[in-house]
Amino acid sequence: MGVRGNMLLVLLILQGILAVRNLFQNPGLESTNGWTCLDCSGSLSSDKRSGSHSYHVTGRNHDFSGASQEVQVSGGHYYYFKVWVKIDNTANGKWYHDVQGQIDILHNNGQHEYQQVGETNYVFPGRWYLVGGDHYVAGNIKSIRFYVQIPEAGVNYHIDDAQMDEVAYLSNFANEANQRIDNLRKANLAISLSGSASPSGLQVEIQQTKSEFGWGSAVDANMIVDGNKKAYQNFFYDIFEWAVLENAMKWPAIEGSKGNYNYDTPLRAVNSMESKGIIMRGHNIFWGGDFVPNWQKSMSGSQLRPELEKHIKGMVGHFKGKFRHWDVNNENLHLHFYEDKLRDQYITQWMFRETKKLDPSATCYLNDYNIIANSGSTMAYVDQAYWFKASGVPLGGMGIQSHFGAYVDVSSVKRRLDEIAAVGLPVWITELDISEPDETKKAKKYEDLMRLYFSHPAVKGVMFWGFWDGRHWRPQAALANGNNVTPNAAGRKVQELLKRTWRTNETHNIGHGQTVHIRAFKGSYKLLVRHNGHVIHTQNFSLGGHGNNLKINLSGSGSNPHVDHVLIG
Ligand SMILES: *[C@@H]1O[C@H](CO)[C@@H](O)[C@H](O)[C@H]1NC(C)=O
Ligand SMILES: *[C@@H]1O[C@H](CO)[C@@H](O)[C@H](O)[C@H]1NC(C)=O
Ligand SMILES: *[C@@H]1O[C@H](CO)[C@@H](O)[C@H](O)[C@H]1NC(C)=O
Repeated sequence: MGVRGNMLLVLLILQGILAVRNLFQNPGLESTNGWTCLDCSGSLSSDKRSGSHSYHVTGRNHDFSGASQEVQVSGGHYYYFKVWVKIDNTANGKWYHDVQGQIDILHNNGQHEYQQVGETNYVFPGRWYLVGGDHYVAGNIKSIRFYVQIPEAGVNYHIDDAQMDEVAYLSNFANEANQRIDNLRKANLAISLSGSASPSGLQVEIQQTKSEFGWGSAVDANMIVDGNKKAYQNFFYDIFEWAVLENAMKWPAIEGSKGNYNYDTPLRAVNSMESKGIIMRGHNIFWGGDFVPNWQKSMSGSQLRPELEKHIKGMVGHFKGKFRHWDVNNENLHLHFYEDKLRDQYITQWMFRETKKLDPSATCYLNDYNIIANSGSTMAYVDQAYWFKASGVPLGGMGIQSHFGAYVDVSSVKRRLDEIAAVGLPVWITELDISEPDETKKAKKYEDLMRLYFSHPAVKGVMFWGFWDGRHWRPQAALANGNNVTPNAAGRKVQELLKRTWRTNETHNIGHGQTVHIRAFKGSYKLLVRHNGHVIHTQNFSLGGHGNNLKINLSGSGSNPHVDHVLIG
């Protein structure tokens, strides 16, 4: 497929993502039609996000008091809901609020079932925020009422630009994904030979040495260099090309007591992996909530501020140039220790700017949870990325943790991923694991998610969050077990996908002056030409989006003199 073919494919994919059907009546809120204020007063306002109006909610007495719309739909489907919300004020001494997308499912037997589809945390007055999520609604229902909830009464808000639709069920998921994989992850390779002294008995072999798409794992900084942990290291180096240190770079590990630093443990691991050609993500510079070093918990904002500056300089100074990505402020959608201490809602944006200034060649990532494993924070995450982009923050990519329980539904995961992809930034799956006790089921679930991620145009790489049950925060998610790090069914499946299914390693007979055409996975390659089984020429090449046309002249300077001898002999 040529460049134009690829463009067409991209357009079709984008149309698939953006084609919008709306189950809400009057979604643009240009009038009040279809919308009801439950336990509140609703009116048309000229303070709008788009069009000329929004819907203004005042007089809220309870958490559930809010703008709502009831939609007659049938059950047995996933539905998603989105709406933009702007709060006018804060209440109860708070300086921000959490805003929730809620649904009230009215069953045929008259019972109501209340569900939260998503929550946008840390909402400040004066800016429009995206709120919503998705939910699977079982059969036998009359209707769904969507409403916007804020736990505190007395907070007034506006809503605008609402959307509700069904999540498409992917009945032919694997075939469609494989087709996308062929289009996105492979390219055309042509190899022709000239200048050979012998017209027959020639073979060309290509062996893929690196994948353009990133596959990697979190590793333990000690185990990856420990001479007694060879089985652990072998499992890792056999299938992965990217790494991230699971814990050794977190602030409490780097500076457990104030002023006492341990950069040696992570540096030893990073230097060792670097020497073996492993590419790395830096995880992480900041992590709020309970995960800050203990010595910070009693500090004031003004004591803390210089510590933050010192820490960015120390971290980036020690690792500059070693990481392709930095996770700048881990899970900041959920954890606001630094924001609250400094009473500064822009502190994460400042962290991004400082990190980028000190390590310009690295890409700064957000890294968060409940983004695709469920829809709790999908919309909030998308909202944050739009906000960072609009504010000129050097946000280079969106990290999605991807910690799954046993429930994996590719249709809803793909819908969430499409929502994130619409932001237009590269996406990395940063912490994949699936906690599933049955290893056969686990193998299938890893395969489905890996196929989904590998087939999605926005996703550039996938990191597992560990692989061995002897060192895993959720041992039932492991790919390998016991002292010998023996692959289980899931581990064998991952090995098969990464070493064989999604890698090109082919040998072809080739005549002098002939061309061999191969559709091969993008990445780096070693090429060998053999004559009657003897290697007469080797070279490296890379295969990217535009394909490659290799014309090999065996009598030219590229041939190996030693091998010419073999050929002549
Ligand atoms: C490539 O294929 C050959 C023959 O099938 C096999 O011996 C070799 O191990 C494979 N190489 C890789 C890197 O998988
Ligand atoms: C080919 O790539 C390998 C790494 O895969 C490297 O060790 C080798 O030096 C390269 N050879 C040439 C001729 O560049
Ligand atoms: C191959 O290389 C030889 C020696 O450098 C040269 O004479 C010949 O023209 C080349 N053939 C092609 C097809 O480029």
